[in-house]
Amino acid sequence: MFRFTIHNRAPVIMNYNLNQLSTRQEKQSTYKALKSLLKLISVERKNLWLALIAILVNSGLLLLGPLLVGHTVDTYIRTKQFHGVLVFGGILLVMYMIAMVTGYTQTRLMGGVGQRMLYTLRNAIFNKLQELPVSFFNQNKAGDLISRVNNDTDKLNQFFSQSLMQFIGSIVTMIGAGIFLLSINTALGAATLSPAVVIVLFTLALSPWVKGKNAKNLKSVGSMSAEIQESLNNFKVIIAFNRRDYFRKRFNEANTENYKTAIGAGLANNIFVPVYGLLSSIAQLITLLFGIYLISTGNFTLGLLVSYISYTTNFYNPLRQLAALWTSFQVAMAGWDRISQILSLESNLKQVKVDENITSDAALLEFKNVHFSYDGSKEILHNINLRFEKGKTYALIGPTGGGKTTTASLISRLYDATKGTVLLNGKDIRSFSAEQRTQKIGFILQEPFLFTGSVKENILYGNSLYKEVSDEQLEKIIEEANLNALLAIFDEGLNTQITSASDSISLGQKQLIAFMRAVLRNPELLILDEATANIDTITEQLLGSILNKLSKETTLVIIAHRLNTIENADEIYFVNEGEVQKAGTLSDALNMLLKGKRVS
Ligand SMILES: Nc1ncnc2c1ncn2[C@@H]1O[C@H](COP(=O)(O)OP(=O)(O)O)[C@@H](O)[C@H]1O
Ligand SMILES: [Mg+2]
Repeated sequence: MFRFTIHNRAPVIMNYNLNQLSTRQEKQSTYKALKSLLKLISVERKNLWLALIAILVNSGLLLLGPLLVGHTVDTYIRTKQFHGVLVFGGILLVMYMIAMVTGYTQTRLMGGVGQRMLYTLRNAIFNKLQELPVSFFNQNKAGDLISRVNNDTDKLNQFFSQSLMQFIGSIVTMIGAGIFLLSINTALGAATLSPAVVIVLFTLALSPWVKGKNAKNLKSVGSMSAEIQESLNNFKVIIAFNRRDYFRKRFNEANTENYKTAIGAGLANNIFVPVYGLLSSIAQLITLLFGIYLISTGNFTLGLLVSYISYTTNFYNPLRQLAALWTSFQVAMAGWDRISQILSLESNLKQVKVDENITSDAALLEFKNVHFSYDGSKEILHNINLRFEKGKTYALIGPTGGGKTTTASLISRLYDATKGTVLLNGKDIRSFSAEQRTQKIGFILQEPFLFTGSVKENILYGNSLYKEVSDEQLEKIIEEANLNALLAIFDEGLNTQITSASDSISLGQKQLIAFMRAVLRNPELLILDEATANIDTITEQLLGSILNKLSKETTLVIIAHRLNTIENADEIYFVNEGEVQKAGTLSDALNMLLKGKRVS
């Protein structure tokens, strides 16, 4: 009958849990992380170059200073030519003023780069989150995600706006000072620089530990934020079951954990500064003692020693700053790891290309040997075969937890089958674009989702047909679709406001809005997942009559727990323990249901 091959079948990713991924991804090298980060800011190339030039000029001027001072001491002060001292004093003043301007320019440029990067990153993460499949949101807590979008991105911004150029400037100043130190007197230079080697080794040895501590801290900020979000979401349940103590305890645990990791990170982050300070003081001491010795043996001048001490300061001061900057870099990298984890995830719900020969007897929707598992380990649906024909009405019944909602989720492609194929119009459902698919398939979920806004906005959500209709036009459309009796249930009609998405209207009313939303889209296939569960019998009859008046072309899949709603079904399927079988007549279905342990 059919023959189809699938190109680049998307791998079915099961594990979307970021906090489990992290153990694997934490090993990502700093170099690799940095490279991917630099790609992100390549659009700022011009500003980065300008800032770099500014910082180079700045460092160059600061480096020239001590040489001029030394020269002044040896040529003018020791020979008491005070005119020369004044001239050189003036030159130095102008140089330091230019250095101030370049320093300011650099700060301003990089501040802008940092803010724009923050903006781009937040957008990138948010857009990525919109692309990810439902499995991702099942496996990650909203609070942790929010913390990644808010907190971690800001760590990167701080590094870029405050530290990056300072970092480069410090390195340039250090290299320059190092060259001066070695070229004026190699032996003295080598002695002065020797403590720096210790510093470098110390830094390299400790950096992974520092980054690890910071990663732990960011993670605990995420967990705490997840804890807050969960208790805010469930506050009614918490109060109703008097479980405030329980949540207080859980929050306290998260907060304690955060406190501990923050102390740990603080300790790690501050370890460099004192060590650097000590070693730079030692270097000054070496320079002074060795320098005086060289002067006493007649191999050095006082002016040169003055320059030398300045260069030693010029070398070790930036190094001391580097200690702080290095920490800020480690924090930023730990944040970037958490961000790139999200950015590198791929949706497993990509559109795929298929070659197929569609036969004329292709059903509207078909399941062929479909298996499904939410987490990749426990199989929920086992080898499902279904066939829904155009214009017919199907009912899925069965005990709670049997797999009805899961089946409906696969039809609307909230998830992809783990094995087997779901076919829409005889073509793999994964080959349709999201737009094509949602035009054909409408569904009303067991837990409908509404936005804050008016009933009108909620009804028209995602409906490309009626994007720009006026209230009057929409009322007419609603009347033609026989939905006006439903709209009348809302006090202010289309303009009824839904203030807080969870509370201002009842669950039943939400289902009515979801119902109107789905029917107005005029889909080829309409799935109702216990859509009448929270609706009174009279309104339910109303819904029934609306469904009866739907176009004869519309295929209906009704998942119901009250049998009266499925009287008119052309075919009844019994869904139990992940298996689906045809139930035959309504009374056969009833028998099957009664045999099941729990009746939904
Ligand atoms: N998001 C999910 N993650 C993991 N397991 C799930 C998820 N949703 C449902 N399940 C499991 O899948 C099985 C079928 O559930 P469901 O399809 O909702 O049943 P029904 O709608 O028939 O009551 C149940 O064992 C349930 O625990
Ligand atoms: Mg269900």
